[in-house]
Amino acid sequence: MGNYLDRRRLILSGAAVAASPSMTAQDQEIRTAFIGVGVRGGSLLKQAIGQQAVRISAICDINGQARDEALSLCVRDNPKSFTEWRAVLDLKDVDAVFIGTPCDLHAEMAAACLEAGKYVYCEKPLAITAEGVGRVLQAARRSRAFLQIGQQLRYFPSMREAIRQIHEGIAGKTYIIKAHRHGGRSRPRGSDAPAARQAVRTAWYADVKRSGDLIVENAVHNIDACNWIANSRPVSAYGHGKKYFPQPVPPGKVMMDGFSVEYIYENDMHCDYSQISFHPRHLKTLPSGMWYTVFGEKGSVYLTHSSATFYDLFAESEPRNLLPENASERDTATADFFACIREKRQPFADVRVGAVAALTAIMGREAIYKGRSVSWKELGVEV
Ligand SMILES: NC(=O)c1ccc[n+]([C@@H]2O[C@H](COP(=O)([O-])OP(=O)(O)OC[C@H]3O[C@@H](n4cnc5c(N)ncnc54)[C@H](O)[C@@H]3O)[C@@H](O)[C@H]2O)c1
Repeated sequence: MGNYLDRRRLILSGAAVAASPSMTAQDQEIRTAFIGVGVRGGSLLKQAIGQQAVRISAICDINGQARDEALSLCVRDNPKSFTEWRAVLDLKDVDAVFIGTPCDLHAEMAAACLEAGKYVYCEKPLAITAEGVGRVLQAARRSRAFLQIGQQLRYFPSMREAIRQIHEGIAGKTYIIKAHRHGGRSRPRGSDAPAARQAVRTAWYADVKRSGDLIVENAVHNIDACNWIANSRPVSAYGHGKKYFPQPVPPGKVMMDGFSVEYIYENDMHCDYSQISFHPRHLKTLPSGMWYTVFGEKGSVYLTHSSATFYDLFAESEPRNLLPENASERDTATADFFACIREKRQPFADVRVGAVAALTAIMGREAIYKGRSVSWKELGVEV
């Protein structure tokens, strides 16, 4: 183990230690801390452990069981263990921090980590309020480090390829996006986790004041994909939604299980997004799952996270697959985070992407809650 660590030891921020002349950028050790190692944080931790020259220096979680499970995954690196996240800010031997805590904690934690000069991989959403988004943006502007948002759809090679072709005009000028995220009645998540931990997770997730509601916690992934496809940002939103089962409850009180929202973009495109968690499994005429259809002057592109097909408007050619046969269905978000640190480049899903995505979702949520159109300007945040 000693050799393993010595070979990779190189500090990338703070008091820099010189690299040996034979050392390449790929050998540069990145000392990494994790704040929040539940379902998602634990999964990111496994991904980070599998990366070359990444050392897990600290694990922080208020839940002893989550912390112990995480520590047992990285005995190789013998990380320090914390319950108080602010202690991580003072660690000189930490270059990068992953934040996998409940959504309402992201803004404060991400801003503080950036201000402490740490590179940040923050789970989505960046924040659940416009003020929170503004706070992280301000910290990022002042920081020497960067933030990558955990919107890993941006790192699916298939999505990148399909959206590149849309931007290059395969469908001509594009006008409208129809996007869905439909699923069957949801089961409790993390069902393999012990009951006590599952209860903790369910509590914050169901509390709209902590999660930001379904549109911000969950749909932010898909809404960001729509922003990416539109290559623009929305100027206004209008929508409806509530918790329908078992009895309808007006929005804003408990997490919605269905909503739809319409966005108008700066470039005049518009997007209809619908999310429903009671799509019958046998209803195939309207596909469930996550998909996007982009309508343009030459035809439409139908894309999922692993497929993309172009349909000619006048049916003068057969539907055409836009992806190579061997397109990978794996995202490269974690690997790219460490590569960006080493190569001193900004992440593709940087703080601005995270900010626009969170604000778009927040604007949709406020439109649903208020029952009226809400404008981007009302959010009061400069991105
Ligand atoms: N990108 C994705 O695909 C994806 C998937 C699932 C969840 N998420 C996001 O990841 C985040 C976590 O979700 P999850 O499902 O892992 O939830 P979880 O409840 O399983 O994990 C959250 C962890 O944070 C810990 N925690 C809470 N407060 C803390 C504090 N003050 N300091 C340190 N630790 C604290 C909890 O004890 C828990 O272990 C959420 O923001 C969620 O939206 C992203």
